Amino acid sequence: MRAYVLERYGGPEGARLADVAAPEPGPREILVDVRAAGLNPVDFKFRQGMLRPIYRPPLPVVLGNELAGAVMAVGSGVTRFEVGDRVFARLGKERGGAFAERACVAEEHAAPMPRDLDFATAAAVPLAGLTALQALRDELGVGPGRKVLISGGAGGVGGFAIQIAKWLGAHVTTTASPRGAALVRALGADAVIDYTAGGLSHTTERFDAGFDLIGGTTLDEMFGVMKPGTKIVSVAALPEPQTALRDLGGRRLLAALFWMASFGIRARARRANVRYRYLFMHPSGAELAELGGLIEQGKLRVVVDRTFPFDRIAEALAYLEGGRAKGKVVVTM
Ligand SMILES: NC(=O)c1ccc[n+]([C@@H]2O[C@H](COP(=O)([O-])OP(=O)(O)OC[C@H]3O[C@@H](n4cnc5c(N)ncnc54)[C@H](OP(=O)(O)O)[C@@H]3O)[C@@H](O)[C@H]2O)c1
Repeated sequence: MRAYVLERYGGPEGARLADVAAPEPGPREILVDVRAAGLNPVDFKFRQGMLRPIYRPPLPVVLGNELAGAVMAVGSGVTRFEVGDRVFARLGKERGGAFAERACVAEEHAAPMPRDLDFATAAAVPLAGLTALQALRDELGVGPGRKVLISGGAGGVGGFAIQIAKWLGAHVTTTASPRGAALVRALGADAVIDYTAGGLSHTTERFDAGFDLIGGTTLDEMFGVMKPGTKIVSVAALPEPQTALRDLGGRRLLAALFWMASFGIRARARRANVRYRYLFMHPSGAELAELGGLIEQGKLRVVVDRTFPFDRIAEALAYLEGGRAKGKVVVTM
């Protein structure tokens, strides 16, 4: 089968389309005929070697973290899916392999595709949609009337985050450039702060919860506009030691490294009297089915910026890496 394979960490030249053996499903896995795969910043960050301190699978490895397709075969212990089912999934982090004509998915990570959704649109949902749901509902406990600040609302995660925060009943403020302002408003943002014209430094508003998709100076500014005692969850800055210990296999050395690396952020959080947490999103077929339900009810819209054919995946990744995508980028097999 054709697959997009990482052979060496670094620039785009380290990955290429190649013919590799198709994977075989284990007892609790399904084999999927991949029709489309979503792209995410983690794909190029992994290729660059930025994740090596955390995950270091032996190379070559097939890249890609989310897909939509049809079930071709099921393992002996699979109970929820049958051959022919249309599914979508965020693959297990230790497995990957979505940028390929066939991929194996743990049964617990897959969900039936929402009715009336095409494969390209469905493939855009799992990773970004689950990230937004887990951050806003599970980590931040966003509820009716809360004032939520989301940095970077125009991108892949931001599009889901704005809509999910609105669905949870929140008042949503997001940062975007004039290029993304119309999109974030159409998705339901109540207020938009132009990050190219002074950004958060000009706002007198104070927020009950913060979801950070940008990190760096944006996160720094977010601490300055939160009400005391509130919480910011970031998926773009650095893990603090508790999350590192919990989510990275209990490796104490890694937790110590992140203790040092996140020192400045934690000190800033303390000064602002704001709690800071990093989130590693996790695959979940059950939560993905919830998102599927929202899509079917018309409560969640999937924004696909561009779709590329699979043989132009390098171009698709370069486009995403440019950092200007509005919504999601997808390849179709
Ligand atoms: N920890 C996890 O589990 C996890 C999960 C998912 C994602 N992430 C991370 O979350 C981040 C966001 O992911 P994504 O998929 O949403 O990325 P993305 O789709 O590439 O985001 C692109 C968008 O960001 C906007 N943007 C760029 N700089 C900005 C700034 N300073 N302020 C506000 N908006 C800005 C751009 O708008 P303009 O073109 O208008 O500037 C563009 O629309 C990435 O770092 C990703 O790795 C982590």
